[in-house]
This record gives sequence, C-alpha cells and structure tokens, in this order.
Amino acid sequence: MSSPDSGVLAVNTVDLTDPAAFADRDPYPFWRQVREQHPVYWHEGTAGRPGFWVVSRYADVVAAYADADALGSQRGTVLDVLLEGDDSAGGRMLAVTDRPRHRELRAVLWRAFAPRHLERVAERVHRLTERLIDEVTGTGTFDFAAEVAERIPLTTICELLSVPEGDRADLLRYSKAAFTTGGPDDGGVDPVEARNEIVLYFMDLAETRRAAPGDDVVSMIATARVDGAPLSLEEVALNCYSLILGGDESSRISAVCAVRALAEHPGQWRALRTREADLDTAVEEMLRWATPGLHFARTARREVVIAGQRVRAGDIVTLWNISANNDETVFCSPRTFDLGRSPNKHVTFGHGPHFCLGAFLGRAELHALSAALVNRVAGIELRGTPTAIRSTFLHGDSSLPVSFRPR
Ligand code: HEM
Repeated sequence: MSSPDSGVLAVNTVDLTDPAAFADRDPYPFWRQVREQHPVYWHEGTAGRPGFWVVSRYADVVAAYADADALGSQRGTVLDVLLEGDDSAGGRMLAVTDRPRHRELRAVLWRAFAPRHLERVAERVHRLTERLIDEVTGTGTFDFAAEVAERIPLTTICELLSVPEGDRADLLRYSKAAFTTGGPDDGGVDPVEARNEIVLYFMDLAETRRAAPGDDVVSMIATARVDGAPLSLEEVALNCYSLILGGDESSRISAVCAVRALAEHPGQWRALRTREADLDTAVEEMLRWATPGLHFARTARREVVIAGQRVRAGDIVTLWNISANNDETVFCSPRTFDLGRSPNKHVTFGHGPHFCLGAFLGRAELHALSAALVNRVAGIELRGTPTAIRSTFLHGDSSLPVSFRPR
C-alpha cells in the first residue's frame, strides 16, 4: 500500500480535467489513495476554470446521488460541460432537470420503456448480436469495437425510437463525436457541432411524428402532455437525444470491456462457457468492471456537508463511479474480475432519482452478447493493443483487436 505522502502527491498531480490524465498511469491505485486519504477533496480549478469537489467513496457517492434536493443536475451532469458554463438543455432534458419537473418528465419517458416496447427491442438485440458474432467468428483478427460493439447499441436505440435505417450511420458518427476528444474517435467532427446535429435531426423527426403519430417512442413523447401541455419540439428532441447519447456510448464501451476482460481472464471465460457462472450475475460484474461513465456531476443547490466537508451552494460536486465501484469496503478484491460476484450493487447505472432509464436495455445488450459468445465461440484471443479512449468522462477502449475461434 502507498504511503500517505504518495497519496498527497497523487491528488495534487492528477488533473481530472485532463482527458489524458490516466493515459500513462493505472487509475485504480490513484483512486484507492484518494478513498483512503482524501475521500472528499477540493480539486483546484485549471486554465481559469472553477474548481470542484471530488467524492470517491461508495457510501458518499450513493448518498450524494440520492440527495437530489441538495445536489442538482440542472446545470449539467458532466464535468467538462459544467466547467464551461451551464448545460443548455438544463430544465428540458430529463438527465439535466431537477424536481419537480424531473419527476413529470421521467413519468413520460418511463412509459416509452414499457415492457411491450422493451421486449420487442431486446429480442431484436439478441438476433442482431448473434448474427454479428457469427459474421466475425473464425475470420481471424478483427476490431470488436468497430465490427460488433459499435453496431448494437445505436441499432437498439434506433429500434426503440423507430429511426429510419438510412439515417442511422450519420447518427452513429455524431454520437461518437459528441463525447470523445482527440485520437481516432471523433472522425473530425466537433463535439458541440455533433450534439447540435443530433438535436436538429430529432426536431425534424419529432415534427413528422407529431403530425402523423405511430406506435413508437418518438410519437409517444411528441404527443405526451405534461401538466396538460404538450412538450415543445425542442424538449422532445432533447429527450430523444438523451436516449441516444445515454444509451449508445455507454453500452458500446461496456461490450468492448466485457470482451477484453473475457480475453484477459480465461478462467472466467471458461466459467461463463460451462455455465458455472450465471449469465445475469456475470452481466453485473461486466458492468462493474467496465464503469463506462467515470463520473457524474452535480451542483450544490444549498450548503451541504459531505463526509465532513462543507460544500457551499453553487459548488460543483463530482461523483466518481470508477472509484465507488472499486471501493474495497463494499467489493471484496475489487480488481478481481469475478463473474460470480454476488452481491454486486455497483453504481454503473447511477443511483436514486436519476437512476439510468435504460438499465434494462443496457443489461439486455450485455446478456445478448454473453449468450452469443457462449453459444458460438470456443476461444477469445487478444490480437493487439486496444486503443484507450481519451476523455474525462468516458472510460474504456475505442478499438479492440481480437479473434474468435468457432465452437
Ligand atoms: C441515466 C449509465 C444505458 C438512458 C444514466 C445514469 C448513468 C447511466 C450512470 C445516471 C446519470 C446521473 O445520475 O446523472 C448507463 C450505462 C449504460 C446505460 C452504463 C449501458 C451499459 C442506457 C440506455 C439508455 C439510457 C440503453 C436509453 C435507451 C438514460 C437516461 C438517463 C440515464 C434517459 C437519465 C435518467 C434521469 O435523469 O432520470 N445512465 N446508461 N441509458 N440513462 Fe443510462
């Protein structure tokens, strides 16, 4: 274990606003030191931007998520956005709306996640995943991120929203560009421009569906009434946007991480194949292991005390899922990938009033992937170095060279 001095050094030298902060260092020892020595600390502002609180322990992260009255989402929930100003969708898009409006909007969107919609989508995800795994198995080295993982989540959300097939490639490109910075991920598209393009696309679609509604989720949101009034076209679009961005990158990164973990842990892969590991239990460990959203952020709506630290009204508070999911006071040997881990109450989907609306679909996608691998693949081999995503928010790989040996 590290000495207290090296802990102080780690906190002072890691700039959490730098997308490359962990490019050359293992994040887990850093977070362990933070939990042990500075569980809640003030991160100084950089480049003229404000500072913020860093919350690292599981119990504090969970309590902060639950306290939506004191810690609001409306100014933004991603550090990068908050440091630049307020989220322009605040108060209109579910994830960045506070109570009481949040509760009403969530009820509208929740209806979109009714079993009749989800079952249809989940079944399609299973078929698509099996077909994609069949296509790549026995073909030598391929990039799992590009050939498989990239093609599942967006299709899933597009199915849910009944987005026309011809529009999906552009949406994927914009979705990739919207959150990643630098490297080969952004396809040369500016993130802000990408987000605007997605909103504009959904405003058009919402207008069309409002004029001629069908039995799909966009039509449902476009014709819903909140407090007796319809949502504005922009509100409909922003909430479609939130589904596509919330559900695409996170699921894609989780799938890539799951396959990488199986390649790197042959014993666990064997346990999965022989059904020694239960699929549902295994999926939870894949989610904990991946933690694709490194952090989520809040703004204090009033003075609040977190683990003895006095947080002033207006302060930015960041909740580090990557740390909470590896808190050894909750997860025994957290850096052991254990598909049989139970209980496994990770915070990969958040916690409290903003708990992920798409958790069922996120789980369904990993379930479909695991089932397809077990049914079709005998061996998974890593065939090169994965490319790490450089981001202050997303955590994982954007490419994963592997080969699958057929059963
Ligand atoms: C919220 C993670 C899949 C839609 C969240 C939150 C997390 C999360 C951590 C809470 C954010 C906060 O508290 O500020 C994930 C992960 C996924 C996933 C890891 C996949 C493995 C999906 C999918 C969809 C989706 C597939 C849509 C189909 C949403 C929405 C919210 C949300 C709309 C906002 C809920 C609210 O504010 O009430 N997600 N998500 N997510 N997620 Fe997901």
